[in-house]
Amino acid sequence: MQIHIITVHTELLASPFEHSIMKRAQEKGLLEVHIHDLRNYGFGRHQQVDDYQFGGGAGMVMMAEPLVACIEKLQQELRFDEIIYLTPDGQRLNQGTANQLSMHQNLLLICGHYKGIDERVREHFVTMEISIGDYVLSGGELPAAVLVDAIGRLLPGVLGDETSALFDSFQDNLLAPPVYTRPAEFRGWKVPDVLMSGNFAKIEDWRHEQALQRTQQRRPDLLQNLDNQ
Ligand SMILES: C[S@@+](CC[C@H](N)C(=O)[O-])C[C@H]1O[C@@H](n2cnc3c(N)ncnc32)[C@H](O)[C@@H]1O
Repeated sequence: MQIHIITVHTELLASPFEHSIMKRAQEKGLLEVHIHDLRNYGFGRHQQVDDYQFGGGAGMVMMAEPLVACIEKLQQELRFDEIIYLTPDGQRLNQGTANQLSMHQNLLLICGHYKGIDERVREHFVTMEISIGDYVLSGGELPAAVLVDAIGRLLPGVLGDETSALFDSFQDNLLAPPVYTRPAEFRGWKVPDVLMSGNFAKIEDWRHEQALQRTQQRRPDLLQNLDNQ
């Protein structure tokens, strides 16, 4: 899969993909992340990409021309399955959306700044708008990194154990059960006996029961989705 990201702060996007699972995904050739500096399409000596908003009011708006020049240049080289603008008023990112997006070949992400991007780009180029939560960040780079990570770890072959992602929270509308590692006893606190029993059927049942309980306590709304399936 190729993910292309348009940003005015390329340096903010360097580190998230240079470590751990995202790094491995790229080394294995399963994921390519390409960062594009919008300033290369900006105007004048200062490579301007923003301007005052019509109608007045505080805050600059990212101009349509540099963005469209960048998008169209990239479109000449690649057909994108989705052009995604990260924005607080987009659809809220969840596991289902990450699952769907992980099945695509090429995605283009647009990071906004200031007051956001000129509405005409949203109307005529953007095909999907995603929010990572009901709060406002100063730019789209962290949301883009979140989205790439959520998608990237789902690509077949990226995680060491293929089935690992299937048992994470939200995949089946349940939260994940508790997990333990060595030592079996720490400060007198013991790992539940069932996990040490070697009886995998029983362990499976226990994990499912724990997942249900935890979901009931913390996110009962998810169980409603389960009922509606
Ligand atoms: C300061 S915000 C703009 C907020 C916008 N004026 C509003 O009130 O909806 C600047 C940029 O950060 C990004 N951003 C901020 N919060 C976000 C969120 N919760 N999810 C996705 N992107 C977000 C978007 O790309 C946005 O264009």
